[in-house]
Amino acid sequence: MRRPLVAGNWKMNGSREMTEILVSGIGSGLPESDAVDVVVCPPFVYLDLCSATAGGTPIAMGAQDLDIHEPGAFTGAIAADMLVDIGCEFVILGHSERRSLYAESDADVGVKASVAAAKGLTPIICVGETREERESNVTADVVCRQLDAVIDGAGIDIFPRALVAYEPVWAIGTGLTATDEQAQEVHSLIRQRIADASGQAAEGTRILYGGSVKPDNAAGLFSQPDIDGGLIGGASLKAADFLGIIEAAIP
Ligand code: 13P
Repeated sequence: MRRPLVAGNWKMNGSREMTEILVSGIGSGLPESDAVDVVVCPPFVYLDLCSATAGGTPIAMGAQDLDIHEPGAFTGAIAADMLVDIGCEFVILGHSERRSLYAESDADVGVKASVAAAKGLTPIICVGETREERESNVTADVVCRQLDAVIDGAGIDIFPRALVAYEPVWAIGTGLTATDEQAQEVHSLIRQRIADASGQAAEGTRILYGGSVKPDNAAGLFSQPDIDGGLIGGASLKAADFLGIIEAAIP
């Protein structure tokens, strides 16, 4: 039985004030059941405050990216060691916004996953097709290509600790959600692809769904056999909505 996980990707949103209000609101509203892992991923500059505010609660923390190099002369970059130092356990990698806006390649994501795992961070690896790709019936090809680059670059051994997040690009921030069946179909494909390399890894790997998850559609998605939780954007910025989604993930 895989333990569900709900992660909030704040993207480039927040302030000191919002970090304190949001993280303490989530912490004080968590359900009695501790059957769901909860992760928040604020921008780098708020990680320290997030950690201080989340202290004493079961909320874990993640970053939204990392740099693959050891600390040194890389102006503007953040090393994996720094994320560990500040209390991150997770790191989101290969988000579609990083792929499309910052030209991250499949291979880049594979190297980042390898570095994250080597440094003891748990990668949350994002994959997903654009609307054009879905309409051209190449969803499976795209998702498998993105996943294969991670398996090739980081090795199958990063699973089942590493997570995969299936985020159809057309569903991100659009209010359009994949139907429960559409999401399950791709999740099952992802699990099968991991199983081709290791059945044991596939069985244990948590595969999250992301893309306009809200409290009112979360339960249907999370009831699917291969959907093990969610990676939440907009709805993770409001404590009540994020808590509603966490509730929906309790088995
Ligand atoms: P939304 O939940 O705002 O659609 O964002 C999803 C996402 O990109 C999470 O990483």
